[in-house]
Amino acid sequence: MSILIKDGEIVTGSSRYVADIYCEGETITRIDKNIEPPAGCEVIDATGKFVFPGFIDPHTHIYLPFMGTFAKETYDTGTKAALIGGTTTIFDMCVPGRDMDPAEGFALWQEQARGKAACDYTFHMGVTKFDATSDSQLREIVAAGVQSFKIFLAYKGAFGIDDSELFQTLTLARELGVVTTAHCENETLVVEMQKRLLAAGVTGPEGHHASRPPRVEAEGVHHLMTFAELTGAPVYIVHLSCREALEEALRARQRGVQVWVETLIQYLLIDKTYAELPDFEGAKYVMSPPLRDKSNQEVLWNGLRQGLINTVGTDHAPFDFEKQKPMGRDNFTLIPNGIPALEDRINLLYTYGVKTGKIDLTTLVNIASTNAAKIFGLYPRKGTIQPGSDADLVIYDPEHRSKLSARSQSMNVDYSGFEGWPIEGRPSVVTVRGEIAVRDGKFVGTEGRGQFLKRPTTAA
Ligand code: URP
Ligand code: ZN
Ligand code: ZN
Repeated sequence: MSILIKDGEIVTGSSRYVADIYCEGETITRIDKNIEPPAGCEVIDATGKFVFPGFIDPHTHIYLPFMGTFAKETYDTGTKAALIGGTTTIFDMCVPGRDMDPAEGFALWQEQARGKAACDYTFHMGVTKFDATSDSQLREIVAAGVQSFKIFLAYKGAFGIDDSELFQTLTLARELGVVTTAHCENETLVVEMQKRLLAAGVTGPEGHHASRPPRVEAEGVHHLMTFAELTGAPVYIVHLSCREALEEALRARQRGVQVWVETLIQYLLIDKTYAELPDFEGAKYVMSPPLRDKSNQEVLWNGLRQGLINTVGTDHAPFDFEKQKPMGRDNFTLIPNGIPALEDRINLLYTYGVKTGKIDLTTLVNIASTNAAKIFGLYPRKGTIQPGSDADLVIYDPEHRSKLSARSQSMNVDYSGFEGWPIEGRPSVVTVRGEIAVRDGKFVGTEGRGQFLKRPTTAA
């Protein structure tokens, strides 16, 4: 099977030019002007369109047992939605509870994804406890191709690890050349602030952000930076939401800590007033860290423009508004944390980032594809367009107009956090390793074709 994409404007993290791309089997084999199609080759006219490398979401929760329920997606539904939105690779969080060993957790997540994922996938391996068994099993998981860990400095009693476990995890990560991704909030402060608010009679969704102010996140980042500095481990802060937390990361970077920063599409575009909507509507916007004051959005866009913030993910964590969010109707601490966004990230970044002049096209590619591939050991197989790379391509139509809505989305959840938002542009064709997976907003690929991506460590 071969595909020839003609006359599109190719956009990578470092260049923009018009040329043809020829894909043979699963791989890009030639980029040139005026390539003649061999017999039997499918030709796609990309005139007037952009051709991007397949986008990479560095932070999703497709399978997630959490807060007494499960995220709504399966690897089948979630990866189809990802592809429709132009995301061809996901990094899902493999996060076993503290009652499970890492090997059991890894096997469980593999079993959930295998034969169901339509796009390619890999895991950040959650370290939710650390003991002798964890040490030996984590070594095996890393050897099996997992170059990154995930830790939580929040969610006391659930996923959260203590300082001794944090030290041991980072020490192992340093030894193995693993990047440790981290949720940074001070878990004790969260619990104490929650108690104080509940005692004062605050029970609605607006209590969520009041219980986790920016300083709680900044304190989490500061803590991680101290441990990263003393162990020498490279770290990646997930879902950074505010100025105070960014300042802590930048201070550490100046001291020589190797730290990358991820923000989320929701922090760039919506603010805490959404979580204050009446009639429990605010529960749709309960996530951790919480939505912030609007003034933080400019800080985050600036950080992306200047390369201080490296990636934009979704932290896709879908819980139904009708049946799951009401678990916390009378107590905001019980509202399942998370928002769906996997399908919408690229269209939102293009519409509200590129079209408004906040970022340019090459920055879009860097923050939504290339940088994640480089940080997490997938580059240049993924994250760029060059001969030898996987033929993961997004032919993007900048003329398409639509509105986001729960009624038309493919994500398996009953609401959209961006209901009614206009969108300017969408992927018209998406390929995964040389197969057309999406045409005109519809999944047309092969269910279950997604591959588990092995990622070597720097020490390998
Ligand atoms: O609110 C969030 N972020 N839910 C998903 C779990 C996590 O902390 O990433
Ligand atoms: Zn988190
Ligand atoms: Zn997450």
